[in-house]
Amino acid sequence: MTDPSAATATTTLAPAQAPDERPYSPGLEGVLAGETSLSRVDGANGRLVYRGYRIGDLVEHGSYAAVANLLWTGAWDPRTRLATAGVPDAVLAVLRALPATTKPMDALRTAVSAWGATRELPWPPTVDDARALTSFSPSALAAFARLRQGKDPVPPDPSLNLVEGFLYQLTGEPADPGTARALDAYFIVGAEHGFNASTFTARVITSTRSDIASAVAGAIGTMKGPLHGGAPSEVVDQLAEVGSVDRAEAWIREALAKGERLMGFGHRVYRAYDPRAAALRKVAESMEHKPEWLQLAIEVEDVALRILKEKHPERVLQTNVEYYAAPVLQGVGLSPDLFPATFSLARHAGWTAHVLEQAADNRLIRPDVRYIGPEERDLPVG
Ligand code: ACO
Repeated sequence: MTDPSAATATTTLAPAQAPDERPYSPGLEGVLAGETSLSRVDGANGRLVYRGYRIGDLVEHGSYAAVANLLWTGAWDPRTRLATAGVPDAVLAVLRALPATTKPMDALRTAVSAWGATRELPWPPTVDDARALTSFSPSALAAFARLRQGKDPVPPDPSLNLVEGFLYQLTGEPADPGTARALDAYFIVGAEHGFNASTFTARVITSTRSDIASAVAGAIGTMKGPLHGGAPSEVVDQLAEVGSVDRAEAWIREALAKGERLMGFGHRVYRAYDPRAAALRKVAESMEHKPEWLQLAIEVEDVALRILKEKHPERVLQTNVEYYAAPVLQGVGLSPDLFPATFSLARHAGWTAHVLEQAADNRLIRPDVRYIGPEERDLPVG
């Protein structure tokens, strides 16, 4: 047998390695890191399809349940139903133990993790697992939102679809159909979007043959960052600071001069108007209970796009989905601190569909990294 200490005892330095000349793209921008049949994000032309179906048509004629089912199974069945599911007692106990000041994204991530701990999750994950987790999370978020206000959680009503059920469990009152329809449209638009950071996280976790709850808990942690899912509540704050359209130009110029980013603008992939923003603007404008600042948002958007074009002639910066997600979410009565977690609920369909797709043709995701530290050297001893 070889003596393992012999390897460390040597003082001979390895010959210097030739520099690794393979191309590296910071942020993996432009790198093909997988294949999917779930959605095509056509950034150049501002188009988005789920399994070939245009996002605008899905919003107009579909429901979140049917879209989730389409993503999981590939079959389009507009009659698909999906209700919210109950929260296991162990998860409720965890949610009750959280301080009321806990951020909803942290509460949701914790709930998904605790849910996973209460179940024997199989490998490979199944459509039933995807459905179960997607149905659980709205109830968990609604339960936390009530518990932090000192109210009891509301049990699910299986006769309601997922979005109506979520609103009912949040407020304890049936949602009016227009409100439920607007939030359902938002859920459809938020359901899936290629290899965004949180989805990629879910696929990396799945590639290790870990379970679906771990993949989604990791995805929620990734979506929490303001560069990904945290933007819509900041859109509301920014518009409140702008206050009126005649102050917009000065406010935007000042913010950009300080190196701040305008929330709801810019995207890694889209170089054209984000089709999700277009769909949500329509939804926001048609809502009965739209926020009074929607008109301000529309007018400020024009000013922001003009100034961004002037400041960044080298890179097209357009309105992204978060800009018009903000008025829709506020219009349905959600408090801004629930916006990112609600976006996560919508993205459950896409995350879990990617988990299934990854597991069905799995290879451990393990890229290389270029070492840029010191050359191999002797440890100073004594
Ligand atoms: N406001 C002001 N300047 C911007 C913005 C913005 N919203 N977005 C990009 N820029 C600038 C950058 O500062 C950079 O300028 P620099 O080269 O002088 O530093 C230039 O445009 C290029 O930007 P990148 O950082 O290369 O763009 P990237 O693809 O990395 O970022 C991102 C995309 C994170 C979405 C960015 O546009 C941003 O921070 N937007 C604001 C936050 C936001 O709206 N997030 C939601 C995204 S949608 C989603 O995740 C669902």
